[in-house]
Amino acid sequence: MLQPLNDLQITKAGDLGDVKPLLAARGLPTNDIRDDDTFFVARAGSVICGVAGLEALGHVGLLRSVAVDPAWQRRGVAQALVAAIADRARAHGMRQLFLLTTDADRYFSRLGFATVDREALPAEVRDTAQFRETCPQTAIAMSRNL
Ligand SMILES: CC(C)(COP(=O)(O)OP(=O)(O)OC[C@H]1O[C@@H](n2cnc3c(N)ncnc32)[C@H](O)[C@@H]1OP(=O)(O)O)[C@@H](O)C(=O)NCCC(=O)NCCS
Repeated sequence: MLQPLNDLQITKAGDLGDVKPLLAARGLPTNDIRDDDTFFVARAGSVICGVAGLEALGHVGLLRSVAVDPAWQRRGVAQALVAAIADRARAHGMRQLFLLTTDADRYFSRLGFATVDREALPAEVRDTAQFRETCPQTAIAMSRNL
């Protein structure tokens, strides 16, 4: 990892206009974002360098849309965003975080997520647009207790 960013600030996104351009630039879907999803943005000074979202599903949450600007990668930005999402989910009574990924499973296993059989996912997760429509059937499901 490069030098961590000292002035990194993680805050709740004010508006999806802060989030969607980076998701689109990193090839992640934006059409299935719900109005009540919570997004966090990472700012280095005035620059938005990363985003991550939480879809609240009762006692569990879906971590989604983790994206970092290529110019700011390998500085712990995604790790800080995932930590903020986990704190938020815990504070809202969620006990487990799930995610779906096509190619970042090795990254998320470094953050404590373990692969889960897709068939073993809770109904709330299987009912999300991301599971039903957006992510390919080959996407890997992962979870982490909070
Ligand atoms: C995956 C991603 C969010 C990581 O962001 P980041 O801020 O660079 O991550 P961190 O700084 O916390 O961690 C960097 C480390 O993870 C590793 N890493 C990054 N992407 C990885 C991947 N897909 N698989 C395995 N390791 C990965 C880096 O090599 C680096 O390793 P090092 O510390 O040994 O140098 C970013 O690369 C990205 O936006 N990718 C495109 C979108 C995406 O795939 N999102 C995840 C699915 S929702």
